[in-house]
Amino acid sequence: MRKSPVADANQTFLDMFADPERVAAYAKGPPRYMPGYEAVQRMAGVLLAEQAPANAHVLVLGAGGGLELKVLAEMQPAWRFTGVDPAGAMLDLARATLENHAERVELVEGTIDAAPAGPFDAATCLLTLHFLPRMERVRTLAEMRRRLRPGAPLVVAHASFPQDEPARSRWLARYAAYALASGADPTEVEQAHTAVANSLTLLTPEDDEACLHEAGFGTIERFYAAFTWRGWVART
Ligand SMILES: C[S@@+](CC[C@H](N)C(=O)[O-])C[C@H]1O[C@@H](n2cnc3c(N)ncnc32)[C@H](O)[C@@H]1O
Repeated sequence: MRKSPVADANQTFLDMFADPERVAAYAKGPPRYMPGYEAVQRMAGVLLAEQAPANAHVLVLGAGGGLELKVLAEMQPAWRFTGVDPAGAMLDLARATLENHAERVELVEGTIDAAPAGPFDAATCLLTLHFLPRMERVRTLAEMRRRLRPGAPLVVAHASFPQDEPARSRWLARYAAYALASGADPTEVEQAHTAVANSLTLLTPEDDEACLHEAGFGTIERFYAAFTWRGWVART
């Protein structure tokens, strides 16, 4: 049976995370599409450290590639991490990226349901929640909250922008123009633009904040906004 364009759109990205050849080039991608990608990782480290103890155990959901794990491990030499991701190839890349920190990082293949019960002192979920339909997004956030100590921080950042026209198309054009201006391959940018445009899982920033509330987070602060991207720090 023919899949819908929406299913195809998400599948375009999820297939990429399962393909070892494309995963090998992963690290070059996000900084070209997300303004301030590395800065978001550092800001996440700063925000988590406001509440997490020096020997914190941190849950990183969507940890494939290992890029935020590496930044956080370098910022905090006594933190331990559990990284969870359903894509085996992305976890292999994380293993290679985290070679120097292997003794502090446990990697688990699966979704949030495969994550240990914790309790964790802090958590992140970067560039991942935009792949999850709304109900699954709220469920995943609630499962993260269930694994956090009371008052512990969660930092999330992902695609989140106005979904009414013509604003939606205008922001999508800016998303593609930024990637081109950053040196991304034009064919790849066109594919990414089409895939994101066809994705039904995208929410507005207001709805993303509602998801955090519905998942049981009480204090929610937006710390980052750039073109089609937003980031929040939330506490229970
Ligand atoms: C764009 S990558 C982001 C990786 C990393 N967090 C970063 O910022 O570079 C998205 C990751 O989310 C993972 N992913 C997809 N669906 C997921 C789910 N339901 N739960 C957790 N991770 C998921 C993918 O396998 C992929 O590794």
